[in-house]
Amino acid sequence: MSAASVPTIALSNGVAMPAIGLGTWPMTDDEATVAVDRALRIGWRLIDTAENYQNEVGVGRAIRASGVDRSEIFVTSKFNRKWHSVAGVREACEASLTRLGLDYLDLLLVHWPNPDQDRYVEAVEGLVAAQEAGLVRAIGVSNFKTTHLARLFERGLVPQVNQIQLDPWHRRDDIAALARTKGIVLESWGPLGRGGGLLADPVLAEIAAAHGRTPAQIVLRWHVENGWIALPKSSDPLRQAQNLAVFDFALSVEDRAALDGLDRPDPDMPDSDVFGH
Ligand code: A2P
Repeated sequence: MSAASVPTIALSNGVAMPAIGLGTWPMTDDEATVAVDRALRIGWRLIDTAENYQNEVGVGRAIRASGVDRSEIFVTSKFNRKWHSVAGVREACEASLTRLGLDYLDLLLVHWPNPDQDRYVEAVEGLVAAQEAGLVRAIGVSNFKTTHLARLFERGLVPQVNQIQLDPWHRRDDIAALARTKGIVLESWGPLGRGGGLLADPVLAEIAAAHGRTPAQIVLRWHVENGWIALPKSSDPLRQAQNLAVFDFALSVEDRAALDGLDRPDPDMPDSDVFGH
């Protein structure tokens, strides 16, 4: 697939964001240097990293090594709980830029709401300031539930993106419905189910066989057709190529209904009212 054929989605502020991206957790700097470089060379254009992944240096090296023009790459990072203040976000953003070796980010996210310290509203105010200062093109949150988003809306703050754990076993309908009404684009982390058995689901196997595709491609196509930007992590060259090739076929109404029907409770799912960093 050529780079030009990765579709984009328009965020509420008009910024065009690639419709699929490469997740980088848990790559190390050295792994990211190789895997992100290779991904960019085969056409990936959205790279998702974070302060907490400790691989921004490797991602930056890969961007420079790839030879792909900076303006063609959409780079996302996220910051930790200690930066949840207006001044803190500025510092976190500048530190990410230094590690990456870049002079702007395409998207910066509050990584987790951490409601125990109750400073995520200030963190989003800090993002607005960073955006106004030209350090970031788009801003957003990650792992925000409807209750966290409601607090932002009360203050007139509407992020452009919310990145949440999302896959056919974890549908998050309440967050998706609210995002739709507010024009917030959802990104899916763990889009392939985080190695938890989703890809071996027999329903998926049947749909994959009917389309002559892999189960991962069927799941990624489900994200695409829902309008969600999936961030599959792969360090493997063949899987990276396979995961990008999901824009040349379509699921049927029946396929989509069957995939939607896989949602189930998961007591082990990280709860962003409790977990965060
Ligand atoms: P690998 O890096 O060896 O390819 P998620 O993005 O949902 O967290 O899933 C990531 C996991 O799924 C990683 O272990 C990754 O391993 C694996 N993975 C990525 N793409 C595929 C694929 N196309 N088929 C099977 N497993 C995949």
